[in-house]
Amino acid sequence: MSAVPVIAIDGPAASGKGAVAQAVADQLGFHYLDSGAIYRAAALAVVTAGIDLGAPNLPEKDIATVATRMRLSFKDGQVFIADHNVIESIRSEECGKNASKIAVLPMLRSALLELQHNFRRSPGLVAEGRDMGTVIFPDAGLKIFLTATAEVRAARRHKQLMEKGINAKMLDLLTEIEERDARDVERTIAPLRVGETTVTIDTSTLDLAQSIDVIMKLCKSNVMQ
Ligand code: DC
Repeated sequence: MSAVPVIAIDGPAASGKGAVAQAVADQLGFHYLDSGAIYRAAALAVVTAGIDLGAPNLPEKDIATVATRMRLSFKDGQVFIADHNVIESIRSEECGKNASKIAVLPMLRSALLELQHNFRRSPGLVAEGRDMGTVIFPDAGLKIFLTATAEVRAARRHKQLMEKGINAKMLDLLTEIEERDARDVERTIAPLRVGETTVTIDTSTLDLAQSIDVIMKLCKSNVMQ
């Protein structure tokens, strides 16, 4: 088992995991894995390959093959498939929904395993997603489940979109978040759940700085001794 320390941060859509995990990684000087970006990039590659994700029976093998062959790379906070910067496309609500649809497929999840494990490099890794502590890095030194009520998460997503000049209805966002929660929680393989030895942090009444602070304190007492 690798000795490189891992901090696993899991949680539902729009729980603020991304911003918190990135900040914690920066403060610790650790690498950062946004596993959702990998699922989103896979969904984009699959749609670009002409596979219909609205079909009742998804072609699991073809989807896994596309994901295995996509030439994905991360650089300076940007995400590339081959030479194309796909950061804007993968951040859309549509792409998040498609990612959650293909994420139920066991062959797809296996195809993305090695890619995720490769992020574990010295001096350490902060990994965020749905199954970082339960499946991908079960020996993580610190496991956190970051959550907030669906209403708070919808409001945060709404604010983010408005800041980008994108119009969205609160009620639509809330419905989408609840649908995505249901898919992520109810799937049979690697469902979103609070694993053993996991610290749950409800950020409904915390701002970003306070959430980072809580996790940094936990890191200092659990990982950085
Ligand atoms: O974290 P996110 O919203 O970018 O993730 C998009 C979707 O990808 C999410 O709804 C489910 C899937 N996902 C997953 O199944 N496992 C992960 N570790 C990360 C994301």
